[in-house]
Amino acid sequence: MSYARIKGTGSYLPARVLSNQELERIVDTSDRWIRERTGIRERHIAADGETCGDMATVAAQRALDAAGLAASDIDLIIVATATPDQVFPSTACLIQQRLGAGPGAIAFDISAACSGFIFGLDLASRYIGSGGARRAIVVGAETLSRVLDWTDRSTCVLFGDGAGAVVIEASQTPGIVSTHLHSDGGQEPLLNVPWGISQGYPALDASNGTIKMRGNEVFKVAVRTLGAVVDETLEANDLQRTDIDWLVPHQANIRIIAATARKLAMPMDQVVVTVDRHGNTSAASIPLALDTAVRDGRIQADDTLLLEAFGAGFTWGTALVRY
Ligand code: ACO
Repeated sequence: MSYARIKGTGSYLPARVLSNQELERIVDTSDRWIRERTGIRERHIAADGETCGDMATVAAQRALDAAGLAASDIDLIIVATATPDQVFPSTACLIQQRLGAGPGAIAFDISAACSGFIFGLDLASRYIGSGGARRAIVVGAETLSRVLDWTDRSTCVLFGDGAGAVVIEASQTPGIVSTHLHSDGGQEPLLNVPWGISQGYPALDASNGTIKMRGNEVFKVAVRTLGAVVDETLEANDLQRTDIDWLVPHQANIRIIAATARKLAMPMDQVVVTVDRHGNTSAASIPLALDTAVRDGRIQADDTLLLEAFGAGFTWGTALVRY
């Protein structure tokens, strides 16, 4: 058995920035409402024809560069996404080819909505821990703008596009210290995109092909559930709240993030916040936030990080990381 440690991070955001002021011209909303209720000021939107795989490729290449590795060094590629390029092959196989990772590596996608990156990190660290892989790329990438109803003010102001990635590799010392994952399929009606291929290609329109969310109910479950899984993580590792250097949360809503920080008695300057500039990028949000804080020098080697996510499913979880 060996440990898995983060060796490099990378991310990508589309060039197009959509501000709250522009949204005021699209739906009956206000910059003030969006900032006060969510903390979001702007989000990035993929260009016409720009896909999840395009963004994932750039983020993964930047993570490889940061790690000082070549794609041919990688033997496992996991892409977490709810908005893949194609039915198949997986986006992971598409980026394997584009990155130039050699044939033979394991590559597949996973679907766990906003928790997808944490679920992918868990899987990759287990592969490495059991000797099934030595070096892995885990990517979270989303083109959520493609599944938004741009007439529904309760959802279209919340989401954005982007990709983030980490390279992890086998190590003698703990990096991904522990992961704590959960799901509850009984909560599906609160948050979904209720269109799917196996339903027999029902006519696709805004009533079924876009995100539906009972936001207020999701909010309450998210705050309660994240508080509980943070406790679970601290107890499992016999840690005090003060042992955490950085909280790197899923970026859905600044009020949910602040509630989790309060639970940890953590000042907001130890919390990595990107929701103001990125909006909610689902599976991409945690690796985007992580890469931001690594590149601006806040997160340093050996810092203890708590990554946490909550999303459709419901799915939720944490990863305790020694960076
Ligand atoms: N602009 C102006 N008013 C709005 C807007 C808007 N964009 N959207 C909703 N409102 C109105 C509502 O119509 C409502 O009006 P009413 O009181 O006259 O009926 C009022 O604002 C309050 O609406 P609420 O839904 O109660 O607002 P809330 O404070 O709960 O904020 C929000 C809504 C931001 C969606 C919040 O509930 C939230 O963040 N929920 C959790 C989201 C989340 O974490 N999702 C999980 C991850 S996403 C994934 O997995 C894909």
